[in-house]
Amino acid sequence: MTVADLDPASLRRAFGAFPSGVVAVAAAVDGKLVGLAANSFTSVSLDPPLVSFSIANASKTWPDLRRADRLGVTILASHHGVVCRQLAGPAEHRFDGVPATVTGTGAVTLDDGLARFDCSISREFEAGDHTIVLLRLHAVDHPVERAHGSSPLVFHRSGFGRLSPAA
Ligand SMILES: Cc1cc2nc3c(=O)[nH]c(=O)nc-3n(C[C@H](O)[C@H](O)[C@H](O)COP(=O)(O)O)c2cc1C
Repeated sequence: MTVADLDPASLRRAFGAFPSGVVAVAAAVDGKLVGLAANSFTSVSLDPPLVSFSIANASKTWPDLRRADRLGVTILASHHGVVCRQLAGPAEHRFDGVPATVTGTGAVTLDDGLARFDCSISREFEAGDHTIVLLRLHAVDHPVERAHGSSPLVFHRSGFGRLSPAA
């Protein structure tokens, strides 16, 4: 173990060894759908209901997204690999052909996600080159689970996979 191992490229590789799910964080802002893919999503608290994710301080989308009263968070399913890349790609095409719903509060969720949350920003914490965003949940829906379940999109070593049953 060396200090050189802490350079960003090597850290990115090491962090990539840790598998995660992926969410879409999105809202309608000034009449446009705005959002991005995030694998830093974490459940935080049941009472009060809180979740978090980290946003890069370099994000061009976050200054707009954080202006929304409500944010939609959708847990992506295993068939969402292409959608996930699209949600991380050019901002003007992120929602092209993606079945999404805008709630009355302006939160945007993907119709075929595993679970969907209607959230508002509770607090933001500076954390190096990212900001940790704490979200308060106002509503939850898990439509796919009700319709026989489905496996989550898994992000690991810069690629996508799915869960397989443990032996
Ligand atoms: C699988 C995956 C996970 C990502 N997770 C995050 C994340 O947790 N936080 C973040 O700031 N960006 C994350 N990104 C990048 C954003 O989706 C987006 O590409 C980035 O914010 C640049 O776009 P922007 O400048 O419009 O924000 C992720 C991208 C991918 C493909």
